[in-house]
Amino acid sequence: MSNIVVFGSQWGDEGKGKIVDMLAEKAAAIVRFQGGNNAGHTLVVGGEKIVLHLIPSGILHPGKVCLIGNGVVLDPAVFCQEVDALTARGVDATPRRLMISNKTHVIMPYHRMMDGCRESARAEAKKIGTTGRGIGPCYEDKMSRMGVRAVDLADPALLKDKIARALGEKNVLFRNLYDREPMDPDRVFEDVLPLAERVSEYLGDVSAAIQKARRSGGMVLFEGAQGTHLDIDHGTYPFVTSSNTVVGNAASGSGCAPSELQRVIAIVKAYTTRVGGGPFPTELFDDNGRHMQAKGGEFGATTGRKRRCGWLDLVMLAESVRLNGPTELAITKLDVLSGLSELKLCVKYECQGREIAYPPQEQNGMARVRPVYETAPGWDQDISGVRSLDDLPENARAYLRRIEKGLGVPVGIVSVGPDRSQTF
Ligand code: GDP
Ligand code: IMO
Ligand code: MG
Repeated sequence: MSNIVVFGSQWGDEGKGKIVDMLAEKAAAIVRFQGGNNAGHTLVVGGEKIVLHLIPSGILHPGKVCLIGNGVVLDPAVFCQEVDALTARGVDATPRRLMISNKTHVIMPYHRMMDGCRESARAEAKKIGTTGRGIGPCYEDKMSRMGVRAVDLADPALLKDKIARALGEKNVLFRNLYDREPMDPDRVFEDVLPLAERVSEYLGDVSAAIQKARRSGGMVLFEGAQGTHLDIDHGTYPFVTSSNTVVGNAASGSGCAPSELQRVIAIVKAYTTRVGGGPFPTELFDDNGRHMQAKGGEFGATTGRKRRCGWLDLVMLAESVRLNGPTELAITKLDVLSGLSELKLCVKYECQGREIAYPPQEQNGMARVRPVYETAPGWDQDISGVRSLDDLPENARAYLRRIEKGLGVPVGIVSVGPDRSQTF
């Protein structure tokens, strides 16, 4: 059976969690390969809602192996809270089926503090609007080769030494640049130690676990976080997250060969949303935007912030297709568009008097483009109970066909409500 990678094609919150949960039934193992608890992946099963930030969205399926890959950044406190919340619901979140890569980098309290300091120091228009979870600073330490890896949590002497060295540098910034109290390395170490002991029970070789699942004939499901246009290299830099969110990173972020990534599913929300700062060409400030925000319940699953809403943008989606090579599309939240008399799809950008079919790459380029729209008729019917393509209103089917034609990729999955069952 082919392995599957699920990725977000917009600016995150496309409904990846729901689709991963649904596909997990057929998987042997589900792997997170980048990002951290900046992600908020919502699962709704039988009317019960659960939001996961770190643990793979396959955890609700008994017996499936859930893996946190080396490309993830892991906050031990959040991991333990998530394990406890799942356990309280009767979900098995023990090391029997849940593993953290030895090589996963660890978010420390000073990363969260640095995230806050950097954001506060930015002028209003330049704020990235990070989730404040310490994601960027943790990846910075990884790249500067001073990071704490999950395996270090099982080696208190090494952990203590790394904390002292990291704070030796960061306290200079906290004190002298950001006018904050420095952090006491011994205190940080003591606070982390009990969490370190718990997390250590979950350590393992994720790469080998993936290979084991494959050797026994199982399918491995790779769960992307964030979205393509939040990618550190390919997104709307600097308004991005600090990891590669594109599908290529599913291999390096988990420790498997790129040839293992056979099926690639692009999650496409039927309209566009964005949380935090940064350009958004199709953003709406009218009743249509308010309709999407209210009917789609567009509030961040991690920070609770209102999500900005706008029309579907085929220009940025085409770029996502080029960067990720999806074999199929999963269109989510189609039900949210019911009740809009007319829909718009951005098919080109106007940029300094020219029409372009790609996102400009220079800084602030995306902020200067104007969307060129095509108009499509909407539909009124409530489609949340629809379970087959044939039962959709003709205008909804035409909307899906337009997306397929624009991107040259077939629609394989349609989602018409938050529940696992509201899919065909
Ligand atoms: P993720 O980060 O990509 O996993 O997406 P989030 O969970 O942050 O946001 C998606 C939101 O939309 C969640 O509240 C889901 O429960 C909800 N959702 C997912 N698919 C659908 C759908 O087809 N229709 C509706 N109405 N809601 C959906
Ligand atoms: P999921 O997996 C939407 C955004 C933040 C901010 C920027 C950088 O649920 O789709 P960071 O804390 O990562 O340094 O913030 O990225 N962001 C997300 N937006 N969904 C997410 O994850 C996001 N993760 C980060 O709002 O603009
Ligand atoms: Mg989310």
